Amino acid sequence: MKNIRIIEAAKHVGETVKIGAWVANKRSSGKIAFLQLRDGSAYFQGVVVKSEVEESIFDQAKNLTQESSVWITGTIQEDTRSKFGYEIHVTDIEVIGESKDYPITPKEHGTEFLMDHRHLWLRSSKQHAIMQIRNEVIRATYEFFNKEGFLKVDPPILTGSAAEDSTELFHTQYFEYDAYLSQSGQLYMEAAAMALGKVFSFGPTFRAEKSKTRRHLIEFWMIEPEMAFMNQDQSLEIQEQYVAYLVQNVLDHCDMALDVLDRDKELLKKYTALPYPRISYDEAVELLQKNEFDTTWGEDFGSPEETFIANQYDQPVFILNYPKAIKPFYMKPHPEREDIVLCADMIAPEGYGEIIGGSQREDDFEALEAELEKHHLAIKDYEWYLDLRKYGSVPHSGFGLGLERVITWLSGTEHIRESIPFPRLLNRIYP
Ligand code: 4AD
Ligand code: MG
Repeated sequence: MKNIRIIEAAKHVGETVKIGAWVANKRSSGKIAFLQLRDGSAYFQGVVVKSEVEESIFDQAKNLTQESSVWITGTIQEDTRSKFGYEIHVTDIEVIGESKDYPITPKEHGTEFLMDHRHLWLRSSKQHAIMQIRNEVIRATYEFFNKEGFLKVDPPILTGSAAEDSTELFHTQYFEYDAYLSQSGQLYMEAAAMALGKVFSFGPTFRAEKSKTRRHLIEFWMIEPEMAFMNQDQSLEIQEQYVAYLVQNVLDHCDMALDVLDRDKELLKKYTALPYPRISYDEAVELLQKNEFDTTWGEDFGSPEETFIANQYDQPVFILNYPKAIKPFYMKPHPEREDIVLCADMIAPEGYGEIIGGSQREDDFEALEAELEKHHLAIKDYEWYLDLRKYGSVPHSGFGLGLERVITWLSGTEHIRESIPFPRLLNRIYP
């Protein structure tokens, strides 16, 4: 007899197979028991008919508790009533591990309770679906950048200085030195681009932000491509192709997961149409002012502003050329205007906020040195970074996409905490 996983059921119709599973739920009457089985690959139904099995097996089925682990033997059959399409007609059950008083029952639980039980909450069908989408976004990311000729480069996680904002750094002791957990691998990726041309990173980043919004994690994963000989306009084209590719692959490979999440697939399909709209920061300010926002030029946008702008379109939108004063030291000023920089944020539709931040980098030695001084950053910490402008500097651009922001958006989940297996939040580092 063959051991199979639930996801392989279609290939074994009519065969007797053995499956290791957990009992997610159970319904039974005097004559029949329905077991909702899950094995990590998928969920399907096990049917135990009293008149077809030994009495002890039927009794065992009736007494199974939620989340007990079992070896199930039975025959795979088509099941036209379920979306999955197959079920197993059980002939034997062997309990592997009992489960008493499983804390997460089919009734509603509060978020804090679920977060305290995150290690168990991950087993539920919604969390399973989100993790499938996460896996697909990761898979498609590697596929996209490999196809486009990028090399994967891993920047360090322990760093000696700030890459973004020095107030959001996690400090740690590195023998006799001060060190910080990486907020962004960008500066190292710029060095890598000068060595390898087109590169991307994919790793954890840390922000000691005291933000408690539905979009902020303390630890999140970021994809950071960096491209030599590329200007900001060319970088925008890569960005929109990449995001459309992610949406298309989630549509192609996560059909069941999208159903579990009740996600509108027609809406997602619209996000694969290119190009994405572009609006300048200046135009965005005007638009907001015309619509009763008291925004003044020079301010950053908060989420109500971002959402309002995003709602004007049915695709993700780029907001271009923000004021220099509110952006980091490394962004290149606009050639015709000193007060704005060559940058863009990509804002997701439906109120999911910024998913990408990117820019063309300052490639002139003197200009960059002056910016570092203006930002009170110690030149000696950035000498290696300045070297890139000393030995064959070239125009180059890059961006960072927040993995969990994209998963939250594509899965249509309310809060970012469900898009990572074990979220680190302002008030939570357990479990
Ligand atoms: O806009 P950010 O801060 O850009 C950078 O770090 C650049 N160095 C990237 C680059 O050009 N290589 O962050 C990039 C993206 C944001 O658009 C957002 O999607 C995500 O990272 N992000 C967060 N995601 C979850 N929680 C947080 N606290 C996040 N902060 C940023
Ligand atoms: Mg940003």
